[in-house]
Amino acid sequence: MSSQPSVTLNDGSVIPQLGFGVFKVPPEDTRDVVLAALEAGYRHIDTAQMYGNEAGVGAAIRASGIPRDEIYVTTKLNNDKHGYDTARWACEGSLQRLKLSYVDLFLIHWPMPLRKDYVQTWTALEWVKADGGATSIGVSNFQPAHLTRLLDETETVPAVNQIELHPNFPQAELRALHTEHNIATEAWSPLARGALLDDPSITGLAEKCGKTPAQVVLRWHLQLGNVVIPKSVTPERIVSNTQIVDFELDDDDMAIMKGLDNGTRIGPHPNDMN
Ligand SMILES: NC(=O)c1ccc[n+]([C@@H]2O[C@H](COP(=O)([O-])OP(=O)(O)OC[C@H]3O[C@@H](n4cnc5c(N)ncnc54)[C@H](OP(=O)(O)O)[C@@H]3O)[C@@H](O)[C@H]2O)c1
Repeated sequence: MSSQPSVTLNDGSVIPQLGFGVFKVPPEDTRDVVLAALEAGYRHIDTAQMYGNEAGVGAAIRASGIPRDEIYVTTKLNNDKHGYDTARWACEGSLQRLKLSYVDLFLIHWPMPLRKDYVQTWTALEWVKADGGATSIGVSNFQPAHLTRLLDETETVPAVNQIELHPNFPQAELRALHTEHNIATEAWSPLARGALLDDPSITGLAEKCGKTPAQVVLRWHLQLGNVVIPKSVTPERIVSNTQIVDFELDDDDMAIMKGLDNGTRIGPHPNDMN
């Protein structure tokens, strides 16, 4: 993989802009799939307590022989682990499963707004960062109202908000809010789980650029400034999804991509996830 771009977070640490997601990668396959990704050149892995495969991610890192500080590791707090003490212990559980002494980024997976405890949970993540369990802390699936409460009521601005984001759902309002507060935007389901890869606008751009539809979509993310974490268990896709730095979408191409916004989510609305 030729040299990949990175994003500097608001706490000064640096995240590779392209990462590898492992949602729905079966735990028993995770070591080999992540090892294939590391061999393909990814240096950023995105897991979560919910995925049940943190142990496989840690095993792949150890098996790769790549120095720990050259691999960026994100995990996420499970929805049933909110609350100050529970969240602090839950991070320790992740470190034990990963067999790591720290993660690079620890996220609150969902705000779970009806529980009314995401502010308190965020203060637990502040403790985890101060204690050295995570280099950076952030959130996922936070809506503008949830971010505003953290900004108003706590000391630390999240480094990242990881949100559903793809050409059908480009999240312009949240991206603008992130820019205003220096929060990095990280895109989950960046390929809309494959749903938009046969869209004629995208296949047309792929033909024009001599690239695959997935490469066009991932390139669009890079040009928006998003951190992007495509998932694949298919060896050739794991490799081809990294080949996105040797071409560029021009203004007309970006305008075509903008036209794909139809407001369609593929995942749950964060306010309904409780
Ligand atoms: N924070 C959150 O709440 C949240 C929610 C969802 C996801 N995530 C994170 O985001 C990551 C990515 O999201 P995702 O897994 O939902 O969706 P995605 O990356 O948009 O899409 C994955 C799907 O696309 C297929 N695919 C991958 N590369 C392809 C290519 N080049 N051509 C055609 N199809 C391709 C994969 O198939 P194969 O695997 O069969 O190749 C898989 O079915 C997750 O793994 C997870 O780490 C976070």
